[in-house]
Amino acid sequence: MTPRGFLGLVILLLAMYCGLDPLKHSAISEFPDFVSHKVDMPPWSLIPTVKDDKNLLQNSEIKFLNQIQGPESMAFDPLGRGPYTGVADGRILFWDGLKWTDFAFTSNNRSELCNPKPIAMSYLKNEHICGRPLGLRFDKKTGDLYIADAYFGLMKVGPEGGLATSLATEAEGVPLRFTNDLDIDDEGNVYFTDSSTNYQRRNFMQLVFSAEDTGRVLKYDPTTKQTTVLLRNLQFPNGLSLSKDKSFFVFCEGSVGRLHKYWLIGEKAGNLEAFAILPGYPDNVRTNEKGEFWVAIHCRRSLYSHLMALYPKIRHFVLKLPISAKTHYLIHIGGRLHAMAVKYSPEGKILQVLEDSKGKVVKAISEVEEKDGKLWMGSVLMPFVAVYDLS
Ligand SMILES: *[C@@H]1O[C@H](CO)[C@@H](O)[C@H](O)[C@H]1NC(C)=O
Repeated sequence: MTPRGFLGLVILLLAMYCGLDPLKHSAISEFPDFVSHKVDMPPWSLIPTVKDDKNLLQNSEIKFLNQIQGPESMAFDPLGRGPYTGVADGRILFWDGLKWTDFAFTSNNRSELCNPKPIAMSYLKNEHICGRPLGLRFDKKTGDLYIADAYFGLMKVGPEGGLATSLATEAEGVPLRFTNDLDIDDEGNVYFTDSSTNYQRRNFMQLVFSAEDTGRVLKYDPTTKQTTVLLRNLQFPNGLSLSKDKSFFVFCEGSVGRLHKYWLIGEKAGNLEAFAILPGYPDNVRTNEKGEFWVAIHCRRSLYSHLMALYPKIRHFVLKLPISAKTHYLIHIGGRLHAMAVKYSPEGKILQVLEDSKGKVVKAISEVEEKDGKLWMGSVLMPFVAVYDLS
């Protein structure tokens, strides 16, 4: 056989293997309906190249190491106490200044299945039973805590904590499947995201690989108790935050790596506008007292992830190789977990970039909450909270 013929045979066998996936070793073998969608990426030339050469986030203090797992959101109550955070086993914990105590939970069916496990990822299997609180926000007037639980939808619990009550589990007849983040205005309207109607949080990697566009931004009206869909056909909508004057909110689009702005009042009400193209793929966004937005970037963009977004057929082929989802994920995020936080002006201009590009101290941040000159950074994957002193 000629070398060319041999090469042809190898390619043919590989193509057959990928087509059939006989050993079910691929990252998508358990997802028969998996479809790869194109992502309309912004041109590579428009992607901000900003960097923090000093890797300032490496100066962060690591707090509560191994006392909590996967704290995504950091919330402080109207008295400034906290943080409160939702963790991997489904509880919402409260730091009283000395110790962590149980504050609230979202599942009415907790059992030994929700007991402590060695790493945050090992809770994935039972998240639909134990709950997984992601975005948290206090209503500053009532002290109620609003919760976006990935499995149980939009919920609320009073200042005394305990079992949260359900506010919304569906919209327009379509169940919430991956409730992710929220914010509340002065009238108690809740704006929130449902990242997908197909993939649950425990399959977030497949959602990333698929880039399917069933994500929605919704509004819960406390007077009518109805939930309406404001925006649909979004690719992995994630964090959401109202502007300081409540005239608009911004939300993160995870697959595209972009922030969009949705006007709530004025002549542009109901309109969508581009806000910022991000240097990476975002998780949550939070405003500070000045009305600036801190965006937690889960990972920087890589040329690989950019090209894979643009060419779904190639991505689909690669996903059928006998490579684990975790490995694909690691390649997608650029080889190693790292950390990046970017601050934007209310107009969408980059004001500050903080990084730990090697992931030496801080990794995979989910949220950046600014309080009294400090940044509190949670991570859905890590067993700690990182605190960075801005002064
Ligand atoms: C409660 O959890 C158990 C597993 O611990 C499960 O078998 C059962 O179906 C759950 N019940 C409800 C009502 O969800």
